[in-house]
Amino acid sequence: MAQYDVIVIGAGPGGYVAAIRCAQLGLKTACVEGRETLGGTCLNVGCIPSKALLHATHQLHEAEHNFAKMGLKGKSPSVDWPQMQAYKTDVIDGNTKGIEFLFKKNKIDWLKGWGSIPAAGKVKVGDEVHEAKNIIVATGSEVATLPGVEIDEETVVSSTGALSLKKIPKKMIVIGAGVIGLEMGSVYSRLGAEVTVIEYLDTITPTMDGEVQKTFQRILKKQGLNFVLGAAVQGVEAMKTKAKVTYKLKKDDSEHTADADVVLVATGRKPYTDGLGLEALGVELTDRGFVKTDGHWKTSVDGIYAIGDAIEGPMLAHKAEDEGMAAAEVIAGKAGHVNYGVIPSVIYTSPEVSSVGKTEEELKKEGVDYKVGKFSFMGNGRAKANFAADGFVKLLADKKTDRILGAHIIGPMAGDLIHEVCVAMEFGASAEDLALTCHAHPTYSEAVREAALACGDGPIHS
Ligand code: NAI
Repeated sequence: MAQYDVIVIGAGPGGYVAAIRCAQLGLKTACVEGRETLGGTCLNVGCIPSKALLHATHQLHEAEHNFAKMGLKGKSPSVDWPQMQAYKTDVIDGNTKGIEFLFKKNKIDWLKGWGSIPAAGKVKVGDEVHEAKNIIVATGSEVATLPGVEIDEETVVSSTGALSLKKIPKKMIVIGAGVIGLEMGSVYSRLGAEVTVIEYLDTITPTMDGEVQKTFQRILKKQGLNFVLGAAVQGVEAMKTKAKVTYKLKKDDSEHTADADVVLVATGRKPYTDGLGLEALGVELTDRGFVKTDGHWKTSVDGIYAIGDAIEGPMLAHKAEDEGMAAAEVIAGKAGHVNYGVIPSVIYTSPEVSSVGKTEEELKKEGVDYKVGKFSFMGNGRAKANFAADGFVKLLADKKTDRILGAHIIGPMAGDLIHEVCVAMEFGASAEDLALTCHAHPTYSEAVREAALACGDGPIHS
């Protein structure tokens, strides 16, 4: 029986990062993973493969819509779907093998199989029981389907099936205008599918800043996505090669049906803790099935910690990674910390959408006196040159102190641009601090500075 300081269960971004940090801190570490490859949902069937398809189809869009304008003439590329899938598989392989390399480099044992916790201090994998002074549950999340909707991963698919469709559908219905629905809807729309997104609420991406929601929906509509908002999906009936979706419009209770070759169910995810034996151990769960923690990733049972999608908070790979590092530090007797007020979120459509901190709606609700600095990418030279001038940067700052409270960006490379605001917020910076920082010209990041200038004496280029 092997003995470890730490056994991490799950090798997704939360788990593998926790394992690496534990090893770096001198703890004898193992990580349990039942998949054939490391990296969890994110690397195998989530963030990474979806980004490969978003990248490939964005290139196609550029070739079809912008190449000729730049004097690049010739036939638009045709889509070789099996090759695009092979490219996606290569991207996954490269990334998952990278984690395997990091495990070897850091002398982390990969315990292959599905783990359970028969008792505190013990982890069972297959027939073997390993001892661990500390256990980190990093088992992630799984797709939350709708009642009565069966996912067959061929006609009615989750995000997993949507990444590996046998062929590009002519018609696709996406249930849920959240992150997955809009990213995968964009992919298939760019590949020529007629995509309709059916959303229960009256807006897309419900937690986002209202102005961003409106602009985002307008841009996606222009790109060809259709939206049915305020519609509660009642059921999905899978036929041989098609599926029929029944939904009720909330405004008048009228019932409608729509059919498509493929229906993507993207209505959220739920924590995945099945088979761990947590209940028997007395590890407390919330009523929604998340593992309860004390703010320092400790569960109600000594020596058992939990991080990532399995606990409350945004289901984001980078939130899980931060928690993984922090939990490792707590176990090693250090002061692990995650600033939940500065966790960015990004949607990797084109344009990208990103945000950090408070939305205007939240500030209003909290009664905070704030000011808005907004700058359109129309005033950004680089964005104009690259046919990427749709969108804006919106910075929210405290009216009195000028301290940055939030940022919301829709536009080119928004997912990267947000990080200068994250760093600024970590340092408690004011909008003026950003405005006084020299930004290279011509870059998209100048739009962030201009938004900061707009919080003060005004932007230069609008
Ligand atoms: P989501 O929570 O982002 O969106 C689900 C949407 O479905 C909501 O707008 C909701 O109102 C709607 N909905 C729920 N029931 C419905 C019904 N019966 N009829 C119509 N609409 C309904 O969930 P999503 O997109 O499935 O993503 C799951 C998780 O994965 C999220 O936490 C997300 O943050 C994360 N993720 C993050 C990515 C990123 O950071 N780029 C990429 C992909 C996923």
